[in-house]
Amino acid sequence: MPGLLEGKRLLITGVITDASIAFHAAKVAQEQGAKVVLTGFGRMSLVERIAKRLPEPAPVIELDVQNSEHLDTLADRVREHVDGLDGVLHAIAFAPQTCLGSPFLDAPKEDVSVAVEVSAYSFKSLAMACLPLLGEGSSIVGLDFDARVAWPAYNWMGVAKAALESVNRYLARDLGPKGIRVNLVSAGPLKTMAAKSIPGFSELEGGWGDRAPLGWNAEDATPVAKSICALLSDWLPATTGSMVWVDGGVHALGI
Ligand SMILES: NC(=O)c1ccc[n+]([C@@H]2O[C@H](COP(=O)([O-])OP(=O)(O)OC[C@H]3O[C@@H](n4cnc5c(N)ncnc54)[C@H](O)[C@@H]3O)[C@@H](O)[C@H]2O)c1
Repeated sequence: MPGLLEGKRLLITGVITDASIAFHAAKVAQEQGAKVVLTGFGRMSLVERIAKRLPEPAPVIELDVQNSEHLDTLADRVREHVDGLDGVLHAIAFAPQTCLGSPFLDAPKEDVSVAVEVSAYSFKSLAMACLPLLGEGSSIVGLDFDARVAWPAYNWMGVAKAALESVNRYLARDLGPKGIRVNLVSAGPLKTMAAKSIPGFSELEGGWGDRAPLGWNAEDATPVAKSICALLSDWLPATTGSMVWVDGGVHALGI
């Protein structure tokens, strides 16, 4: 039987370690028949090393979403590896330390601005940079942590995620007429490098597995990766502007 993503050409951002959600998404995507191109930020030789651990070593191109030259040249640099794209994964987030764990009320606006630019505005920047490569039926997916409520420690990253949820809806509105779907996966807590930079992550993660109706393993990104791949496939053709919770069911409960 052909894989779910047979013949799909995907651009996957956000790999920094083999714990990255993006790494697991790339792995499952390749197993399902996709050709994957990765982007890396900053520590390129590390990302290139991690890329070699995929079932098929994937090419890596550099992308800092705050760098307009990187964004302007992205489509041409992707074209060196594939002749177009059927899907894009945005797996990028960053907030300065003042925005995470430190008193919410004290974060300087310059730091908040960086958090929102890298973690929310960049969903639009990446979509626009890839637009020349995306055709009818393609899919853009981003990664969210449920921003309907206030969490311990998550602070201004929570605000940035609320912005990301809104960007998702507006992108879906504006790219829908081109036949491009845009959706978020709202993941439960996973032990990645980004998670380790949240001082109160253990408070967020602790007890998640007990509360989740389906249980939850913060060491296993495969359920999130599979759900990303489902959204990148042709099997949710009328779904856009949506958020799919992949959190063991915690979002559905009051307590
Ligand atoms: N780990 C969790 O518990 C969890 C839960 C829900 C959502 N998410 C989201 O998943 C996504 C991926 O995070 P992860 O948990 O796999 O952690 P990760 O640390 O593996 O990935 C974060 C990535 O963001 C990239 N990045 C940061 N600044 C960048 C910039 N300026 N330009 C380009 N890339 C940049 C980093 O290089 C890194 O690859 C993020 O959006 C994160 O908020 C994570």
